[in-house]
Formats: sequence, C-alpha cells, structure tokens
Amino acid sequence: MRSVTVRVPATSANLGPGYDCLGLALGLHNTVTLALAPTPGVRIEGEGAGSLPRDATHLVLGAAQAAADAVGERLPALDLHQLNCIPLARGMGSSSAAIVGGIVAANELLGLGLSQRQMLDIATAVEGHPDNVAPALLGGLTVCCTLDSGEVLVERLDVAPGLSCVVAVPDFEVATHEARKALPETIPHADGVFNLCRVGLIVAGLVSGDFSVLSEAMRDRLHQPYRAHLVPGMDDAIAAALDEGAHGAALSGSGPTVAAFVSERGEDVGAAMVNAFARAGTTAIARTLPLSPEGATVTMQDRL
Ligand code: HSE
Repeated sequence: MRSVTVRVPATSANLGPGYDCLGLALGLHNTVTLALAPTPGVRIEGEGAGSLPRDATHLVLGAAQAAADAVGERLPALDLHQLNCIPLARGMGSSSAAIVGGIVAANELLGLGLSQRQMLDIATAVEGHPDNVAPALLGGLTVCCTLDSGEVLVERLDVAPGLSCVVAVPDFEVATHEARKALPETIPHADGVFNLCRVGLIVAGLVSGDFSVLSEAMRDRLHQPYRAHLVPGMDDAIAAALDEGAHGAALSGSGPTVAAFVSERGEDVGAAMVNAFARAGTTAIARTLPLSPEGATVTMQDRL
C-alpha cells in the first residue's frame, strides 16, 4: 500500500446524562490521508489549517504511532494530508476524528492487523475517554463502559429513522481538559440516580423511535451545571431549542456547542438557539446535520 484515505464522522458525546458513556456519529466529516513518503510532511486544509502542528506532534501522527507501538511495529516516514470540516475544540469530536483517522489509516497502510476492538482501546487510551472515539470508529449510537483494565466494552446501536441533530456552535473554543477540571470529585447520590434513569431512557427512546422522552431524558446533573459558566447562554440555548419544538437538547461533549434533536424545522430550532446565545453575548452559528450510521471508512487505497 502506498497511501490510504479514511473518512471519519464528527461526534456528539454525553447527549445530556451519558457522561463518558454515550456518543453519536454525525454527518459531518474529516478525511485523513496517510502516505508512505521519503520524508515526513503534514498538509492541513479547512478547520485548523492555521493552528494545528505540522510535525510528529500532530494528533493523527501520534495516534498512528500508538497503533504501530501496540503491535511492536516501527512507524515509517509518513506524509499526512488532512481535510477538516469539523470545528476544533467545540465539543464535536475533532480530536477523536483525528485519532481514529490516524489509527485506521495506519492499520490499513501498514497492515498492522488490529481489530476494531483493539483500535477502540488504543483510541480511548490516546483520547482519555471512549465516548467520542467509539462513534467516530463505529458510527451510530454507542454505549461505552471502560473496564478497570482500561479496555472498553461497547455496544453500537442504530438510532430509529427520522432524527436530525441541530448544532449551535459558538465562536470560541473550550478545551476538554479544562472543562473536565470544572467537575466535582463527588456528587450527591440523588444526582447519580437522576442521571442513570435518563441514560436508560435516552438509549431506549433513540432506538425505539419514541422521541417524546428525549426532552426529559437529555437532562443532566453530572457535568452541565458545572460547565455552564464556560458557555454563556448554554441553559438558554437548550431552553430555546425545546421551546421551538426540538425533542431534546444538551451540551455536546464538553461544549461549547449545544446539540438539539429534531424531526423537522431544524432551521427554526437553530435560529432560536443562535438568538438565545446572542442574548447572553455569545456569537454562534447553527447547522442541521443528519446522523451517521457509518463510522470511520476507508475511502481510497493506492497500492504500491
Ligand atoms: N465525556 C467527555 C467530557 C466528552 O464531557 O469531558 C468530551 O467531548
């Protein structure tokens, strides 16, 4: 193999109550091309073209290195070409797309023979939590459980037809590691119970197609209340989406994007969220995205 191109979806993690557990693949993609080359190189188009590193510290190359390390292979000199549509550090899984793209491309290009399960474990180790990398790799709705050993158990489910995701994307970044520092060490038992009921409910509703449960099922007490100060207008944007007829809405990953589920009138829901953000002084843009049943997909292979 001379080069491999992989297409990887954006993702929305947590979905309200499912902190570090639930994730969903969205119909917005980055592509990663890794090619064997006499000297290493990095080319980036689109999101992050002016800011991402152009050396071995690039996340795609770091993930490719982790994949090679996992089977004791040496990583050869690689040329990376990344075409990015997923906004950076907005809670839409841009880093997971880079990690999964790097691992899947390296696996194909170098014939590493990694299974999906091994790739998920490597991706989780690089990212630090499984809920974005799992849907980026597998598509659909994923339910993850990280074992004491660090391995990840995952169930991939199909969401019932008829749902789109409206994202309102603020014009500033939130670093996930900072947003994780905002969380408390302990939570009241009642808050744990509050969330676990809703995790069950949201998975059931998304799979059965009973979207009427989503407004309640997407409420959260584990992370959103502690992160609200990082995203001015978050609560108002969620409330505005529900007022405008969205089935449910929540902070996407660690934010600052707010994601709402709709079956219709996505533009109106998006406009309502953007206006609510604006009232809090936050500039945002809205997009309505389909869900993505497909995860990372090899779209091109150039054989030697
Ligand atoms: N579960 C992670 C968090 C997702 O909320 O920190 C980050 O996108």
